Amino acid sequence: MRITVIGTGYLGVTHAACMAALGFEVMGLDVDVEKVAALAAGHVPFYEPGLEDLLREQIAAGRLSFTSDHAELAAWAGEGALHFVCVGTPQKKGEYAADMTYVDAAFETLARSVAHQGRSLLIGKSTVPVGTASRIADRIAELAPNAEVAWNPEFLREGHAVHDTLHPDRLVVGVRSEQAEADLRRVYARLLAENVPLVVTDFPTAELVKVSANSFLAVKISFINAMAEVCEAAGADVMQLAEALSHDPRIGHRFLVPGLGFGGGCLPKDIRAFMARAGELGVDQALAFLKEVDAINMRRRVRTVDLAREQCDGSLLGKRVAVWGAAFKPESDDIRDSPALNVAASINLQGAQVTVYDPKATDNARKMYPTLSYADSAMEAADQADVILHLTEWQEFRDLDPVAVRTQVRQTRIIDGRNALDATAWRSAGWTYRALGRP
Ligand code: UGA
Repeated sequence: MRITVIGTGYLGVTHAACMAALGFEVMGLDVDVEKVAALAAGHVPFYEPGLEDLLREQIAAGRLSFTSDHAELAAWAGEGALHFVCVGTPQKKGEYAADMTYVDAAFETLARSVAHQGRSLLIGKSTVPVGTASRIADRIAELAPNAEVAWNPEFLREGHAVHDTLHPDRLVVGVRSEQAEADLRRVYARLLAENVPLVVTDFPTAELVKVSANSFLAVKISFINAMAEVCEAAGADVMQLAEALSHDPRIGHRFLVPGLGFGGGCLPKDIRAFMARAGELGVDQALAFLKEVDAINMRRRVRTVDLAREQCDGSLLGKRVAVWGAAFKPESDDIRDSPALNVAASINLQGAQVTVYDPKATDNARKMYPTLSYADSAMEAADQADVILHLTEWQEFRDLDPVAVRTQVRQTRIIDGRNALDATAWRSAGWTYRALGRP
């Protein structure tokens, strides 16, 4: 059984490399010819721990190849192949809804190229509005009657992509036939043998599992950030509050870290697309709370800018601000909807000179925000700073010695936007340490 993967972004490259690691012969396809050339040469065009090594290993083992030619892919795959569609569903410009152009095009082209073959299974992995799989299945039935559609959402986290693919919390498959279920069980046989739970369901449920999981995570983050707002007003400490809550196993500690909130290419756009879809289904009231979740999240960015201004004696004009972190989270160079850069850009617009340092995302940030300054180290960014903002919680920042950083800055003021630094250590080194949701 051969496997193809259409779309080689975060999801696609990881899926392709991991399916090869499970022992399958895999071919990845992308319309971006340069990306295909880079991948074929063993280069992953983004930072994801462990992925490049795995990619090279699988290419060397002869199990993994890449192309941008659909005809080549279909001929290589042959009858009985499994095709995973992993293309993106970004937020539409000026709307909450997801842009389905890439998913639709990928399925259409794939269906045309396998139409003359015997049976094949076309599996959607992209995050899509509920109802998509069924709509696509109708279209595929017209274009390639021998092809069947299944939906298999992906739950990997950036920064842990390889681990999450090979050791997922669960597998979810939306299928319409026993044959499709059997095919997917074969693909994931090794994971199933390790007792990874499998939920076999219909199309809409499979699609909904994905967006509701991301919505739930967003709710948890915004819940604790809403508590942070209340703590700020009441003089309470949200970190102690979160700790006390987390001892209740029904609540738990994960995704309950207060701070600058969520960003990235998934959570923000997924909750918005989910609201848009609920509106189309006439159940917008059911998801009205997600609007509040989004609003709480965005207010954390504004609050961080306000805190920076407060620390700079009421005006950011002419101040030097160091920003530690540009990626939307650590262990990633992804800056899509990055809270850190959003804050950095707003502070810059208020007249401050902002210098950003990130261990991996500086190059991406520079392209997107050319008016900010960039440094090659945290220390260099802190040079003559009036305030330091810690906005992405890389280990590298936690390892810094507050006493050593003190010699670098103009004012010993630090704002911990991620509640991740050792407050006591910074304070005892003479810093004014401020964090979101804490006195
Ligand atoms: C998220 C989900 O966690 C994955 O399960 C899902 O597969 C993925 O989206 C997707 O839809 O593709 P990811 O975007 O990689 O994964 O990042 P997360 O680890 O979920 O973090 C999202 C954001 O929440 C980050 O900006 C992070 O800093 C923030 N966050 C996380 C908090 O502000 N507080 C927390 O306690 C946890």
